[in-house]
Amino acid sequence: RAAVDPHRPAYHFTAPAGWLNDPNGLTQRDGVYHLFYQLNPYAPVHHRIHWGHAVSTDLVHWRDLPIALTPSDGPDVDGCWSGVLVYDGDTPTIVYSGRHGDRELPCVATGTPDLVEWTKAAEGPVIAAPPTGIDVTAFRDHCVWREGETWRQLIGSGIRGQGGTAFLYESPDLREWTYVGPLLVGDSTLGDASAPDWTGTMWECVDLFRIGEEDAEPRDILVFSAWDEGVTHHSLYWSGHYEGDRFTPAALHRLDLGGRYFYAPQSMRDESGRRLMFGWLQEGRPDSAAVAAGWSGVMSLPRVLTLAADGSIRQAPAPEVDELRDEQLASLSTVLSAEPAEVARGDELDLELRLTIPDEGAVTIALRATGDDTERTILRLQRHGDRAELSLDRTRSSLNPEVDASPRSGAVPVDADGGVDVRILVDHSALEVFAGGIPLTARVYPTRADALGIRLSGDDVVVQGHVWSMRTVAREAGVPTA
Ligand code: FRU
Repeated sequence: RAAVDPHRPAYHFTAPAGWLNDPNGLTQRDGVYHLFYQLNPYAPVHHRIHWGHAVSTDLVHWRDLPIALTPSDGPDVDGCWSGVLVYDGDTPTIVYSGRHGDRELPCVATGTPDLVEWTKAAEGPVIAAPPTGIDVTAFRDHCVWREGETWRQLIGSGIRGQGGTAFLYESPDLREWTYVGPLLVGDSTLGDASAPDWTGTMWECVDLFRIGEEDAEPRDILVFSAWDEGVTHHSLYWSGHYEGDRFTPAALHRLDLGGRYFYAPQSMRDESGRRLMFGWLQEGRPDSAAVAAGWSGVMSLPRVLTLAADGSIRQAPAPEVDELRDEQLASLSTVLSAEPAEVARGDELDLELRLTIPDEGAVTIALRATGDDTERTILRLQRHGDRAELSLDRTRSSLNPEVDASPRSGAVPVDADGGVDVRILVDHSALEVFAGGIPLTARVYPTRADALGIRLSGDDVVVQGHVWSMRTVAREAGVPTA
């Protein structure tokens, strides 16, 4: 047996073996959460993708179930790509992208009540081709919902020379679909392709939902992952208004300041009415390193989405994540100085901090740091009035020159008293940070076993909060009994 890979997360969901990418078919039924996901069970490379399946009653302990969809002779011979699960009356139905050659088309499969066994529709693809007369960059991924008696579906795409889009379709039965038109078309000529809010030439994994308190004005949110010629850029969302056959955008936002490290997300409304989201944490190490390790890809922790007063989204780890806290390593109520102070050590940690930063002041948080600072990952919050710049510096995260060390940054809100609530989840190579409800997700690969220190510094910054070690989540394997 090979030694355990030190970069493999202990409390994030990963595939039992092989490759994992997008979350799919998110559902809660009779209290049970179902997480399906893009999986290659045979090797940690993106090839002939299956749908993996796991269930949980608390969103953090998962039980592996048999593979739900396997490529077979026909329209999905080269892969069962991303999609969703809906209930057609009592019949669970998956709508996914069947890949054949270099083309994807919408396919359906129906499931047993426990969602374990799936039967593909014999007719093959339910839509034979992209809309005629449009030169599309791609055509895949599905968002399906019901309006009265009618099913509606969005398929991610792009119009060559114009930009990414989501094509809207309608159906009475999930089988016969009529093309309605593009819900919204982006403009890929706006801005630079390297900009963190470039909308891409194709929109992967489109997800449309309404969010908002009962008493406040709800907003419609259209999430997509900007893609271009095989390159995964980042996930963005439009807030705006969906009515009739159109989405009228009000503002474009980055979904996660980590860019491609939180990619191809999917959301669901759970039985208690929460809007939950999962995303794929891509690797930041070379493919050869993933192959040597035997696994690739991490599922994010479950996030709860809420609407902020300005119409944008705030994100936080679902409260269920708190259940994984083990030992309280530190309880902090102190004023920081320029001299870094070590507050805890570990690579499976949860930090919940309130940082009160003087105007134009800054706080620096070193993570996964060796005592001599040879390796360390730096998070920094630099306050400017009611905003702060959150930045991630990975230039010394790893002595391995082959891992991604590119910077990440963006603005987060600051409360009137100068306070920012910061949550930091460290899980070996997986890092999820939330500051003022804005996430920054990334991967880090320290080489040294003693890269465990957490050190805080910042002139006159007040820190209050706690640091916990987290429990390793044991995998529960096996087929469920009825
Ligand atoms: C996004 C994506 C989807 C596609 C799936 C294939 O990461 O490329 O567009 O359906 O992954 O695995």
